[in-house]
Amino acid sequence: MKKSPNPRHYLAVFDLASDEILFLINRALKLKSLYKSGQPYRPAIGKIIGLLFEKPSTRTRVSFEAAMLQLGGNVTFLSSKDLQLKRGEPLKDTARVLSRYLDGLVVRTFGQDVVDELARWSDIPVINGLTDQHHPCQVLSDIMTVMEYKDEDINALKVAWVGDGNNVAHSWIQAASRLGFALALACPEGYEPNKEILSEAQTESTAPITLTTDPKKAVEGADVINADVWASMGQEREASKRRKIFAPFQINDALLAKAKTDAIVLHCLPAHRGEEISEEVLEGEHSVVWDQAENKMHLHKAVLEWAMGL
Ligand code: CP
Ligand code: NVA
Repeated sequence: MKKSPNPRHYLAVFDLASDEILFLINRALKLKSLYKSGQPYRPAIGKIIGLLFEKPSTRTRVSFEAAMLQLGGNVTFLSSKDLQLKRGEPLKDTARVLSRYLDGLVVRTFGQDVVDELARWSDIPVINGLTDQHHPCQVLSDIMTVMEYKDEDINALKVAWVGDGNNVAHSWIQAASRLGFALALACPEGYEPNKEILSEAQTESTAPITLTTDPKKAVEGADVINADVWASMGQEREASKRRKIFAPFQINDALLAKAKTDAIVLHCLPAHRGEEISEEVLEGEHSVVWDQAENKMHLHKAVLEWAMGL
């Protein structure tokens, strides 16, 4: 017996239409106010989600756990090293078995093909909690944070991405395309975003998504500046080589001076002070990173509600 004939998976931003993205962000803003009011809201009583994580996590793990518990549901953390997956049990078998016990599955792993395969065989929603290619929940809570800080419509803003053309950058590229805001990326040569993801997004976008090797050009007149680590999880062995190549891409006071005077700085965290971002900027008045981290929990509640049909 299938639990749901059509589970709502969320594996990449492009799985959502623009009105669904806006719905989730607006819902997260409402759920945040409800949480701050102290009023209990427990639509997930009797539901259980699994968190299957193959990489470390502080924010995504704990914010999904807190979100589900606050919604009245339960969580089981599934470290991949403790599952039979580790001994070669196929993903398709794991997905079908977990679907019989759980109501949703959040996955953090390496290849996007892993979440695709789990989703293909799951009768329950599969949510991408970060892969090498995408970090789709992250970017929705990042945009929620932008909306809290900026009076203008997101389409009126210029967003800059400075650094590696990585998983988080890919999700920003897809979000810019869906919502139609200007995104300027500055990446070192050889560290650009995936060409297919970029060109598909550019083709479908109503606003410019540009790529340069000059961080000053990307940040010029920006309302929002994004930083992320230079070496992502799984790239630790490249870290020292990347430190040299990425050095001109640090977000520091000199670079920030090129942006609008009221620009905000985002970093999905964890941050490496003195590498992709200076201590002064991370701790300075333009940084909104702690609100950004909090918003992951509210956004995850909205995603869980939507995915499980609560
Ligand atoms: N931003 C983010 O995904 O952080 P974690 O790796 O701690 O989950
Ligand atoms: N690009 C980073 C994001 C961490 C939340 C990584 O994949 O390690």
